[in-house]
Amino acid sequence: MSGSSSVEDGPFVWFPALVLCLFMVLCLCLGPFSLFNAGLARRLVPYRHATLTPSTSSLPDGPDNPSSNLNMVAGLVTPHELTKVKSSSDRIEEDLAEARAMIREAIRTRNYTSDRDEVFVPRGRVYRNPYAFHQSHIEMIKRFKIWTYREGERPLVHNGPMKDIYGIEGQFIGEIESPGCPFSAPTPDEAHAFFIPVSITNIVQYIYEPYMMSNKSKIIHTFSDYVKVVADKHPYWRGSNGADHFMVSCHDWAPLVSEADPNMFGNFIRVLCNANKTEGFDPRRDVPLPEFKVPPRTIDVVDTGRPLDERNILAFFAGGAHGYIRKLVLNQWKDRDDDVQVHEYLPPGGEGYMQLMGRARFCLCPSGYEVASPRIVEAIGVGCIPVIISDGYALPFEDVLDWAKFSVRIHVGRIRDIKTILQAIPREKYLRLQKGVMAVKRHFTLNRPAKPYDMFHMVLHSIWLRRLNVGLGGLQV
Ligand SMILES: *[C@@H]1O[C@H](CO)[C@@H](O)[C@H](O)[C@H]1NC(C)=O
Ligand SMILES: *[C@@H]1O[C@H](CO)[C@@H](O)[C@H](O)[C@H]1NC(C)=O
Ligand SMILES: *[C@@H]1O[C@H](CO)[C@@H](O)[C@H](O)[C@H]1NC(C)=O
Repeated sequence: MSGSSSVEDGPFVWFPALVLCLFMVLCLCLGPFSLFNAGLARRLVPYRHATLTPSTSSLPDGPDNPSSNLNMVAGLVTPHELTKVKSSSDRIEEDLAEARAMIREAIRTRNYTSDRDEVFVPRGRVYRNPYAFHQSHIEMIKRFKIWTYREGERPLVHNGPMKDIYGIEGQFIGEIESPGCPFSAPTPDEAHAFFIPVSITNIVQYIYEPYMMSNKSKIIHTFSDYVKVVADKHPYWRGSNGADHFMVSCHDWAPLVSEADPNMFGNFIRVLCNANKTEGFDPRRDVPLPEFKVPPRTIDVVDTGRPLDERNILAFFAGGAHGYIRKLVLNQWKDRDDDVQVHEYLPPGGEGYMQLMGRARFCLCPSGYEVASPRIVEAIGVGCIPVIISDGYALPFEDVLDWAKFSVRIHVGRIRDIKTILQAIPREKYLRLQKGVMAVKRHFTLNRPAKPYDMFHMVLHSIWLRRLNVGLGGLQV
């Protein structure tokens, strides 16, 4: 390890992990050298341009229809045809075709078919099509198998942040890699989808922050280097042009890694908190990941929600002036109104953040530096109706959930009218929205291990839907 000898006498000697990281960074600077597989420095075969042929029948209500993934499964449109590059497993495609058929049948009969007792049956107005969703979830539990690539070392791979604002990233990697995870495929040939278990947040923390503050291209290279290694070593990426592969990241910069090489990542499923449609996030292919601020000691969130008759704050927000939308909210409302309580800093000695949220009827969730806000999950958790103030934000689980039934959207241009808009909502409508919030709560709750219909299952279901909508040649129904 000649690369590390120069730092042997320095303070880094106390931090073996940092020495290792420095070594890896040095390696990265050496050109065509792979971080994840040092022995594999040969040149890569060029990636064939992905050809997703749009279906001939048009979507029933435009490509922006957020339920389009469910419509596709429902047979309203045929799955995308993907040029077959390499013979993929017909058995996998057959399995997916059966799942599609079951979902269509459930839509037709408005009922479900299951081999086991269903502990929860999604019903009610918060679902776009509860029958399609229910059956699709049943099929996912029954069939969906994911291969997580084994290559790579911690802390950049197989590991991620478990706490705080990006915590969902590490929790997801941890859950899917946990030994008992029922979704893991015994062999890659049995997998419907492939997980790239790289943590963008850890790359930023271990590579960018200590050494490369000035250049984000190292983040991009570290990630695409990993993908190139597994794509070169195994046939699966080439077999689908990446269309059955996915990544999961909550970091603001995660979209950078795939935007850098649109040819290579043209079909890749990106599961992102930063789901900004104006920046190329495509809800038909990408998956919005809920941002969830994981508490420091336990993933269980204390429910501070008060009964409805004790909710005496019309609207609540507290947070820094991050990004232009929050600046607008603070400029207009900060410490100024008893009904719309907006604070940059909570008054010392007073009630806590979660207590105030639990006492509010509406919780303002403006975008920060990026579109997502952890306040959406927090608000739902305490029975407060999220008020979404954003631009181009693709909301989580929009394929199956009808957000209009449990949230309010206020356009950025109408921030000054927040009070008038919220006061104008009739009591009956407020009660319906609040009931909707309570109905979707389980979908925004994190459990370890995961439970049916919880946040992890919902994210997985979003991936499952996108996988169902891509036929990799061969059989199709
Ligand atoms: C719906 O399906 C379940 C399970 O297959 C069955 O027990 C139930 O009777 C069905 N309900 C209706 C209304 O057909
Ligand atoms: C960042 O690195 C890339 C390649 O390593 C280089 O082309 C680019 O000029 C660098 N940018 C800055 C701002 O240093
Ligand atoms: C979404 O992306 C657009 C285009 O880059 C950007 O102008 C906007 O600020 C982003 N939204 C948020 C809330 O950051």
